[in-house]
Amino acid sequence: MGLTEPLGKLRLGVNIDHVATVRNARGGAYPDPIRAAKLAEDAGADGITAHLREDRRHISDADIDGLMQALTVPLNFEMAATDEMQKIALRHRPHAVCIVPEKREERTTEGGLEVAREENHLAHFIAPLRDAGCRVSIFIAADRAQIEAANRIGAAVIELHTGAYCDAHAEGRFDTRDAELARLRDMAAFAHDLGLEVHAGHGLTYDTVTPVAAFPEVMELNIGHFIIGEAIFRGLTPAIAEMRRLMEEARA
Ligand code: PXP
Repeated sequence: MGLTEPLGKLRLGVNIDHVATVRNARGGAYPDPIRAAKLAEDAGADGITAHLREDRRHISDADIDGLMQALTVPLNFEMAATDEMQKIALRHRPHAVCIVPEKREERTTEGGLEVAREENHLAHFIAPLRDAGCRVSIFIAADRAQIEAANRIGAAVIELHTGAYCDAHAEGRFDTRDAELARLRDMAAFAHDLGLEVHAGHGLTYDTVTPVAAFPEVMELNIGHFIIGEAIFRGLTPAIAEMRRLMEEARA
C-alpha cells in the first residue's frame, strides 16, 4: 500500500466555528466569523470550514449565507445527515459538504460517522449533493469497514477523525497515541488505494499536527478550536501562519 507518485501541497482548512461560539456567548454581532474567515483567507487558509449544527450553538444560517457571499476560497460545509441540512446545502451548493455525526448532548463531534451501519440511507442522502456538484466528504474513524462503506456509497473524500490520537497525546497515554497514529497512517494509505481523497482533522494542535501532516496520502487538514484559541495570544494571522509552517515542514 502507499503512494508511488509525488503529492500536491497539503491544504489547510480553517474552521471558524468557535469565533461564533464566542459571539454567541453574549449574543450580538461580534466577534464576526465572516471577518475571521476573510482574515484566515488572507493568512493562507486554503479553505474555510463551518459546521451548522442542528441546535445552532455556534454557526448560524446567516453565517453560512455570509460565508457563501464573502469567501474566495472554498467553503467546506459540515453538517449532519438530516433533511433540513440537505435542503440548506442544496440551496447554497458549497464546494464541499462534510457529513458528520451529531448528538445534541455532545460538546464536540465525538466520533466518526457509522457509515457501515447506515449505508443505504447515506448513499441516498449524498446522491443529490453530488448531483448538485458538491464534493462529498464523510467524517469517519480510521477503520477499514467504515472506509470501505464510504467508498461504496460514492463519497469522493473521507476525513479521518484525529481526536483519539490527539486526546491520547494530551493525556500522556503515549502507547495509545502511537497506536492511534499508526492506525491513521495505515488507513490513510488504505483509503487512498481505494481512490478516495483523504483529509484529516479534529483536535489537532501545534504539538500533534506534524506526524499527521507527514502522511503523504493526506491532502487536507481541517483545524479550528486550537487555532482560534491560539489567536487570543498571538493573533489569528500568526496563529495560522505557524500551523502552515509546521505543516509545510512536515511535508518537506
Ligand atoms: N473536521 C471535522 C469533520 C470536524 O467536525 C471538526 C470540528 O468541528 C474539525 C475538523 C475541527 O476540529 P477542531 O476544532 O478540534 O480543530
